[in-house]
Amino acid sequence: MIHSIDPGILFLQEEEVIKAGVLDMKMTIQAVEKTYELLGKGQIINPPKTHIGMPIGSGANWNSFFNSMPCYIGGDINVGGTKWAAESRKNSSIPGIPYGIDITILSDPETVLPFCILDGTLITAMRTSAVAGVFAKYTAPKNTETVTLVGAGVIGRTMVMAVCESLPAVKKIYLCDMNLAKAKALAADYKDVYSVEIVPTSDAKTAALDSQVVITETTASSPFIDKSWIKKGMTVINMGSYEADLDVVSSSDVIAVDYWDQIITYESKAAAKLYKAGKLTRENVVELSDMVLGKWTGRKGTDEVINCSSLGLGALDIMIGYEIFLNARRMGIGTMVKLWDKPLWE
Ligand SMILES: NC(=O)c1ccc[n+]([C@@H]2O[C@H](COP(=O)([O-])OP(=O)(O)OC[C@H]3O[C@@H](n4cnc5c(N)ncnc54)[C@H](O)[C@@H]3O)[C@@H](O)[C@H]2O)c1
Repeated sequence: MIHSIDPGILFLQEEEVIKAGVLDMKMTIQAVEKTYELLGKGQIINPPKTHIGMPIGSGANWNSFFNSMPCYIGGDINVGGTKWAAESRKNSSIPGIPYGIDITILSDPETVLPFCILDGTLITAMRTSAVAGVFAKYTAPKNTETVTLVGAGVIGRTMVMAVCESLPAVKKIYLCDMNLAKAKALAADYKDVYSVEIVPTSDAKTAALDSQVVITETTASSPFIDKSWIKKGMTVINMGSYEADLDVVSSSDVIAVDYWDQIITYESKAAAKLYKAGKLTRENVVELSDMVLGKWTGRKGTDEVINCSSLGLGALDIMIGYEIFLNARRMGIGTMVKLWDKPLWE
């Protein structure tokens, strides 16, 4: 971090974030692993996100929400920042606008001046799937060849990239969506991009039963995976709010979460429901940091069922946003704006 009293802020719109390399899944996976490594070493302050569901009183049944996701990353990064994240169910039926829309702010931890504001929507899509990719890397059965992805939206799109990057032996991906046309369109977009067969379908359960790994990234607001979907030796990774029912999670041999302190605060997550019911404790789960730091030794045998879930961490957005900022500065792209010419009061 270069300290300065210059109140200049580099603004990066989505097209510039793309030029600066946001669509590089290999880089994103490395940044995700580094974030969880630093988190596990106590080098990141990342309080649980503050959630505002709307309309007032809707609780977990929100129509839209804002999340504030502040953090400080220490170590050799030394950057503060926050992601202002949002999702709207209404956007799913409005052409021309994503379901989730995010903005990321990076700040100097010493002078506390913000130095970059960038579109965070693509960072979210990339890093969310990269988290699933890292879960898959550490928990998938050896030489996994068949994977089911449920949800062919924005996160489904980046999930194909993450799976191809994290599971080098993969040969077939079932791409499922209740809206089959979306699954077909996304599969067509990936035709000839990877040497993997991508099969669009609306029958997610049949696909799951033919797979070693199942990853869900849907906007479903109630669980659709029950125990009849689960085979011995399977890894199930849930990235949406509440996609596998409580029995599926609680009966898994290994329950993994991205970050325990945060996931138990989010009432729509299965891990939070089980924790509140007194059926899950910190000691019963493996965190993603434990995997990255080698504190968890991996699958035992070929029969273990592993369930992973994630709520997402602001530190991921700041870590990747900072990398994008450095690239953009090197490339001389973006627009400089200023907080002030001279502060009125100091
Ligand atoms: N864990 C994280 O860090 C994180 C971060 C960002 C988004 N998410 C979650 O990822 C999910 C997907 O987000 P998105 O931006 O891709 O949304 P999107 O609207 O672009 O796509 C969601 C897709 O899910 C499909 N779907 C909904 N219910 C389904 C069901 N029961 N079976 C099959 N398909 C179904 C929809 O038809 C749609 O195509 C959301 O729940 C979002 O909250 C998680």
